[in-house]
Amino acid sequence: MTLLNGKELSQTIASEIAEEVNQLTEAGHRPPHLAALLIGDNPASRSYVGNKIKLCEKVGFRSTLIQKPEDISELEVLDIIQDLNNDDELDGFIVQLPLPRHIDADKILLAIDPQKDVDGFHPQNIGRMTLGLPCYKPATPYGILMLLERYGIETSGKHCVVLGRSHIVGTPISILLSRRGYPGDATVTLTHSKTKGLEDIVRTADIVIAALGISEFVKKDWIKPGACIIDVGINKKDDPSKKRGYRLVGDVDFEGVSQVAGAITPVPGGVGPMTVMALIVNTLQAFKISKTNT
Ligand code: GUN
Repeated sequence: MTLLNGKELSQTIASEIAEEVNQLTEAGHRPPHLAALLIGDNPASRSYVGNKIKLCEKVGFRSTLIQKPEDISELEVLDIIQDLNNDDELDGFIVQLPLPRHIDADKILLAIDPQKDVDGFHPQNIGRMTLGLPCYKPATPYGILMLLERYGIETSGKHCVVLGRSHIVGTPISILLSRRGYPGDATVTLTHSKTKGLEDIVRTADIVIAALGISEFVKKDWIKPGACIIDVGINKKDDPSKKRGYRLVGDVDFEGVSQVAGAITPVPGGVGPMTVMALIVNTLQAFKISKTNT
């Protein structure tokens, strides 16, 4: 069984990117620059954004964190986005989701300049991705593709079963893995809460991508021996033995499933670090497009 170690792989990629940034700055360019807009005080969002900013520092990027209170108006957010769109010293930015209820996330995402949309959430980027045109791929699916590629997991002709049809994971990874090329050329089944006979469908999977947000949902006896398991879930599970009273688990029952899988991502330390890395890769791409035309 191969442990798909996203933490280790993201560190390897971080070293590669840091080297590239070094070369760019030595050649007289300013460093790539990412901004993050964080609204409210959702602890998970705070932690995710903190990881993004930390990784920027590690690879030599400039970063800007804009924090605004929960009660900021939609109009004020749109104003901030206009400023970020117009800032020539900025290559890309993200608006951390979820947003407070009084702010229409679709309206906000539409206001982001697609050229600076390093999260790949703008309809223009999603459309381009669907057509196989150059685009910013959404971070979590892109992180999964990098993990599959660097570990040399075969995808051509394989049956990939995706659990969950979210806009940021399930739907885009289904599109990306069914495209031509590598990693891709897979036969993809996208399953969701209304799917009938889910367990039997998963039993035919060579690759399982679990992104439904239910703790330890996928069980050992659903898994074809040797299958590759990508666990996107990050869920809290009560654990009195831990100081904070809980531990993190994925959407897959790791203990059972790892006994039959051929390869599996751990939680934490699997998809999570690769997602943050994908954002960095997209920002470097944005920098290269705007500064060096490569
Ligand atoms: N919330 C959960 N995942 C993401 C992500 O990839 N990007 C942003 N902006 N918000 C998120």
